[in-house]
Amino acid sequence: MRLHVVDHPLVAHKLTTLRDQRTDSATFRRLADELVTLLAYEATRDVRTEAVDIQTPVARTTGVKLARPRPLVVPILRAGLGMLDGMMRLLPTAEVGFLGMIRNEETLQASTYATRMPEDLSGRQVYVLDPMLATGGTLVAAIRELIERGADDVTAVVLLAAPEGVEVMERELAGTPVTVVTAAVDDHLNEHGYIIPGLGDAGDRLYG
Ligand code: PRP
Repeated sequence: MRLHVVDHPLVAHKLTTLRDQRTDSATFRRLADELVTLLAYEATRDVRTEAVDIQTPVARTTGVKLARPRPLVVPILRAGLGMLDGMMRLLPTAEVGFLGMIRNEETLQASTYATRMPEDLSGRQVYVLDPMLATGGTLVAAIRELIERGADDVTAVVLLAAPEGVEVMERELAGTPVTVVTAAVDDHLNEHGYIIPGLGDAGDRLYG
């Protein structure tokens, strides 16, 4: 697994405002959307392309377009939905699948309650969206499902990660073609599974 922490002043600025408890839901949604687009720029650095010949108004030249099959974007419901528009702004031709997952607040175990995506992901690049990588249970389960369906390149875009979750992903997904792109890796997870200092419960702040 590869970890990419995006080091950019605009990313840090938007993340700081997201963390601030005074930021209301409407502002939180808008900033999360903007932050995802910045992260998506980095996350799509290795998106597959193919060469094309085109005619400009004055000459023939070669360029690139996104390769087939199209990338698949998978927001993890509920909170990942707040990241979908920001991602699709950069990949408007991508296909979208959905995974509904919930973490039990006591055991911190993740379980899947809804799945809507292609059965066969052979040869597909997949971008998974989830604002928080806390214990890592949710993303590990989601990525295993994608790899079982044949995905051969998975990038998880997360706003914020805990070092404990990164470690779990590195251990559980060792040797798999997985990249995690995040705005920051925070200090630690508390006993309730919250990222510290974090930004609170992303789902509640987006939709609560
Ligand atoms: C939160 C968050 C992640 C997950 C991270 O979702 O959005 O999906 O927890 O935790 P983990 O790394 O410890 O598995 P939650 O279960 O609160 O659902 P929601 O998105 O519907 O709010």
